[in-house]
Amino acid sequence: MAFSTATTSHFGLYNTSNETFTTTTTTSAFASSSSLKPFKIPSLRPLIWPWEKVKMGPLSVSPMGFGTWAWGNQLLWGYQESMDSELQSTFNLAVENGINLFDTADSYGTGRLVGQSERLLGKFIREFNGKKQQNDVVIATKFAAYPWRLTPGQFVNACQMSLDRMQIEQIGIGQLHWSTANYAPLQEMALWDGLVAMYDKGLVRAVGVSNYGPKQLVKIHAYLKSRGVPLCSAQVQFSLLSLGDDQMEVREICDSLGIRLIAYSPLGLGMLTGKYTPSKLPSGPRGLLFRQILPGLQPLLSSLQEIAQRRNKTIPQVAINWCICKGTIPIPGVKTVKQAEENLGALGWRLSSNEVLQLECAAQESPRKMIQNIFQTR
Ligand SMILES: NC(=O)c1ccc[n+]([C@@H]2O[C@H](COP(=O)([O-])OP(=O)(O)OC[C@H]3O[C@@H](n4cnc5c(N)ncnc54)[C@H](OP(=O)(O)O)[C@@H]3O)[C@@H](O)[C@H]2O)c1
Repeated sequence: MAFSTATTSHFGLYNTSNETFTTTTTTSAFASSSSLKPFKIPSLRPLIWPWEKVKMGPLSVSPMGFGTWAWGNQLLWGYQESMDSELQSTFNLAVENGINLFDTADSYGTGRLVGQSERLLGKFIREFNGKKQQNDVVIATKFAAYPWRLTPGQFVNACQMSLDRMQIEQIGIGQLHWSTANYAPLQEMALWDGLVAMYDKGLVRAVGVSNYGPKQLVKIHAYLKSRGVPLCSAQVQFSLLSLGDDQMEVREICDSLGIRLIAYSPLGLGMLTGKYTPSKLPSGPRGLLFRQILPGLQPLLSSLQEIAQRRNKTIPQVAINWCICKGTIPIPGVKTVKQAEENLGALGWRLSSNEVLQLECAAQESPRKMIQNIFQTR
């Protein structure tokens, strides 16, 4: 017997008029009543809950992580140290609800606050009340390809500094933040060897890359493989506002090589939340960018809104769910408990394939997309 559940806007159970689901209990109960006609089991689409883990190399991670770029960044994200207790509550809420993947970087934090995101994550893990969940947290940090990191040893030192800042013994995923292939190919080789060395020393459980395009991704995967190091993840900007040929190619390569694709900026830095309009812009540099893009975004925002309303979801939940439907692990940035709570509601249900298509058609109508990261390679 198929049934649909009641819905909530946050921890959304599988709702909707056009989707159904069943459980083993209901099916077997039904099968035992022999007088009834054969029962056609509806095709089941897997539900993804935060506490259902997916494999990422040797790690088990939640199907969505949270990004922490804003934790320490004053320039773009208006961070102030007075926000720390809210950020800690945000972290606690996420972990209590099954999220165990947190993305950070050694370059996150502006001015004297460089490294603040890692420092805060380390503190929040230490102070978290619950040993099992504490141990399960996977930190994915990124090491910047600064021009002064020229040898494998210097890259390993960078990893050691991140460990010290977080006061942890091992990092979940050590990621190369960007490729220098376009402007410093020799440095690139040293950085790859640095990744190998930190893996061999056991400083990281797995290695990943960030901002790698399809060509470079294939190359680094082959190189690491030849050194006995599996590449577990690749993160790129991936959202309804950042959906180009490169993203699709990277996704196919990831699928064929068994690499997890991590979708960063899945909410288009906040533009896909519906809370900003051309006359209501965020302060700082984001405002300048949004002013260019938001005026053409109406078809996409209307589609997001329509689907959200129909499914009793919210716009950010639909935008994040789309990333999951594309086979990625999204890592939306969160600054408040309210945002984390709302984004958790992106899990536990799935857009239909028609809805995915509708959103992509609407996205194509936007005359301007997100600008690509300057470090993104081919
Ligand atoms: N590898 C790389 O080079 C790279 C680059 C960029 C990002 N990343 C990673 O990806 C993560 C996510 O990307 P992102 O932070 O750039 O952008 P994003 O996830 O697209 O947007 C995050 C921002 O949207 C707003 N927001 C989030 N949830 C919301 C909700 N439910 N309702 C309303 N507003 C909400 C918040 O900002 P406001 O409240 O201020 O609007 C939040 O900081 C980063 O934190 C970082 O870890 C990696």
